[in-house]
Amino acid sequence: MKGIILAGGRATRLRPLTKITSKQLLPVYNKPMVYYPIQTLAKAGIKDILVIVAPEYSGQFLNLLGSGHELGVNLSYEVQEEPRGLPDAFVIGENFIGKDNVALILGDNIFDHDFSESIASFTTGGRIFAKEVPDPERYGVVEFDDNNKVVSIVEKPKNPKSNYAVVGFYVFDNHVIDYAMNLKPSPRGELEIVDLHNKYLSNGNLDVNIIEGMWEDAGTFDSLLRVNNLVAEKIRQGENL
Ligand code: DAU
Repeated sequence: MKGIILAGGRATRLRPLTKITSKQLLPVYNKPMVYYPIQTLAKAGIKDILVIVAPEYSGQFLNLLGSGHELGVNLSYEVQEEPRGLPDAFVIGENFIGKDNVALILGDNIFDHDFSESIASFTTGGRIFAKEVPDPERYGVVEFDDNNKVVSIVEKPKNPKSNYAVVGFYVFDNHVIDYAMNLKPSPRGELEIVDLHNKYLSNGNLDVNIIEGMWEDAGTFDSLLRVNNLVAEKIRQGENL
């Protein structure tokens, strides 16, 4: 299993914090944000990791993380010239992934969940994770039928049909490269990760796991502040984040 951290994008919602650096390099309590997804992958047993970054900040990532040796991982880097959407990670990562399966984590998603079981037991298809949240309209949302069967994943629905948000950690088999290469941009001009989920779902190959514990997408001022406080509290209590 290879790992990819998607840490590009423009982060305009966090201006002026992100005027001279990347969102994923901003502090989350005592570490730069990108340390957390690296540790989430490492904890799950994934040590070969590709970090995808925006062109302006590639040097900063390299200065900070280098080979990854200090964090116990092997890092490679690719530049994403334009934020074309999350599935672009599998197009950019084609050579890095090779013939392996791949786990993608978003560089601004912070978890205390241990994904190691889910990685160790993965064989084929797609495996995504959902968490109950009060504000599902901010996320990809899982729609269930009356028998609790997943019928679809919808990106930022105005009227969400459930409170289960798809979190930014995804596991796919090697077919994902082909699927991503054949996606068309959505009306908002991006390749959509939910189109990959729905592709696996329609093939009868999507596994949706509900997770609990801390999960934050640190993409807004409020969620960034919240995650700083949550992490600070956990570290003070002796958790190893
Ligand atoms: O956080 C979980 C959510 O992440 C999911 O529930 C959604 O289904 C998924 O689309 C995504 O939603 P976001 O609104 O958070 O996506 P955003 O465009 O903000 O991108 C997420 C991160 O990935 C962000 O930190 C920047 C980075 N990114 C994004 C794009 C579109 C890139 O590096 N390159 C890109 O092309």
